[in-house]
Amino acid sequence: AFNLRNRSFVKELDFTPQEFAFLLGLSADLKAAKYAGTERPRLTGKNIALIFEKTSTRTRCAFEVAAHDQGAHVTYLDPSGSQIGHKESMKDTARVLGRMFDGIEYRGSSQALVEELAEHAGVPVWNGLTDEWHPTQTLADFLTVTEHTDKPLREVTLAYMGDARNNLGNSLTVAGALLGLDVRMVAPEERWPDEELVAAPARAIAETTGARITFTDDVAAGLAGADFVYTDVWVSMGEPAEVWDERIRQLLPYQVNAEALKATGNPDVKFLHCLPAFHDLGTEVGRDIHARTGLSALEVTDEVFESSASIVFDQAENRMHTIKAVMAATLGG
Ligand code: CP
Ligand code: NVA
Repeated sequence: AFNLRNRSFVKELDFTPQEFAFLLGLSADLKAAKYAGTERPRLTGKNIALIFEKTSTRTRCAFEVAAHDQGAHVTYLDPSGSQIGHKESMKDTARVLGRMFDGIEYRGSSQALVEELAEHAGVPVWNGLTDEWHPTQTLADFLTVTEHTDKPLREVTLAYMGDARNNLGNSLTVAGALLGLDVRMVAPEERWPDEELVAAPARAIAETTGARITFTDDVAAGLAGADFVYTDVWVSMGEPAEVWDERIRQLLPYQVNAEALKATGNPDVKFLHCLPAFHDLGTEVGRDIHARTGLSALEVTDEVFESSASIVFDQAENRMHTIKAVMAATLGG
């Protein structure tokens, strides 16, 4: 086993391939223990702060349920419920919360802020999503992959379609490199991850793990032979509403629809999405886009989302088991 005690998790690059794989194994163990009714609380008496400067369903609930299962107490701070960013700096906030809490989750725009929090809090800090990285998501994604294939991860091919320049695109590229997969980031070149921040470190890791990392705008080549097809929203939280129309124009050829799944040539291909998903446009934001564009779905069609290939709700559940593993490993006794 690996000792990750007192470590923060602000991006996948914080961990070695062995440490990242260890967290996946621990996640599977904790999930099995919960199902078997043999879960042992490792966080009894711990106090955990959950700071959300952006909205969340899965991440917040995953942290709350995981903490509760493990015997810890959580305090939720929403964007309006604290002084952070309004009248108190992150450095001061970190030194205050570090005196009271044993671990801190942070979701916001700025990667620099979560790193400043980690630097000054003196306790483990976990990134619950920033504009640059979403590291707790990719642990859940790859736990889900292992549950839906008989192959070892090093023989698995995952094609990610759409906006590869967002937090998910960055995180999947690096996580795939750490775990040794064949990862294809299928997107127009303007939406490929940043070279210095993501692509270069991912390639360096791939050399040690045997991963293959490809950035391509060729949909047919990117999808051929894929075991898993993954997509995310085309406009992320915090981006201005004005980018929708350009993004739709850029990314419509990368929509995950029945034809795209067929192009993998793999009858057992599975579909992944971190959620929330625009598979129908019946939500508040969706109705507005439908009215403007006439489209009935964006990054994934309803047909694919609701098909037997779709494993998105296993993936959502696994947010909880993997976040539990991160907390247990960095904070547990
Ligand atoms: N996938 C994910 O992070 O979902 P939430 O925004 O609901 O937390
Ligand atoms: N890229 C998306 C992920 C949501 C979980 C966003 O940042 O909005």
